[in-house]
Amino acid sequence: QSAIKIAPSILSADFADFGREIQAIEAQGADWVHVDVMDGHFVPNLTFGPQLCKAIRRHIKTVMDVHLMISPVDTYIEAFAEAGADIITAHAEAGPHMHRTLQAIRATGKKAGLALNPGTPAEAAAPLLDLVDLICVMTVNPGFGGQKFLHSQIDKVRSLRAMIGGRPIHIEIDGGITPETAPLVTAAGADVLVAGSSVFSGGSVERPEIYGRNIRAI
Ligand code: DX5
Ligand code: ZN
Repeated sequence: QSAIKIAPSILSADFADFGREIQAIEAQGADWVHVDVMDGHFVPNLTFGPQLCKAIRRHIKTVMDVHLMISPVDTYIEAFAEAGADIITAHAEAGPHMHRTLQAIRATGKKAGLALNPGTPAEAAAPLLDLVDLICVMTVNPGFGGQKFLHSQIDKVRSLRAMIGGRPIHIEIDGGITPETAPLVTAAGADVLVAGSSVFSGGSVERPEIYGRNIRAI
């Protein structure tokens, strides 16, 4: 099996010391940086826009993985691409024309991701496999960091891995990842793990090596 990637979610970072927080996780071995964009409509929370992505881009070289929890989504794709996202992920539930959305992401030259809410079955991805580079399985209800992992999603990961076959598509898991839940999803076929609270908890900009210890524990 290829190496598992860890993508810390900056949703759990100290926003008042943001530049140092993201540089610290990169220095401590984060493979990707995961940015959670929320619109207060698709999910009941508000976070960042393209301006913050642009600012992050100036501080890190790591892959920027942008998770759009917004609806509508198509009108914002260009802005996130210009802001320096490497991967742009949209939700299957966010609009009626996912083919168009994924094509629009690829048209910007970026990698395209499809996220599935816990209530959405694996089969929703089947007609879209030729248009995606990543499938993000939500293992919490999107909107907040620090929620409990939903074990019911593990079978979905297994189904998706079988459905993907030999295609070069990442399976990313988002929500509730800890040293205890990580092996459950990697055994089922996931290869990218988003981790917010478990990476940042106990970390501090004074002692950035704590992040490294948390990242390696996952
Ligand atoms: C939830 C976000 C996640 C979240 C993960 O809507 O998509 O990326 O930050 O946080 P933890 O790892 O704390 O569950
Ligand atoms: Zn996310």
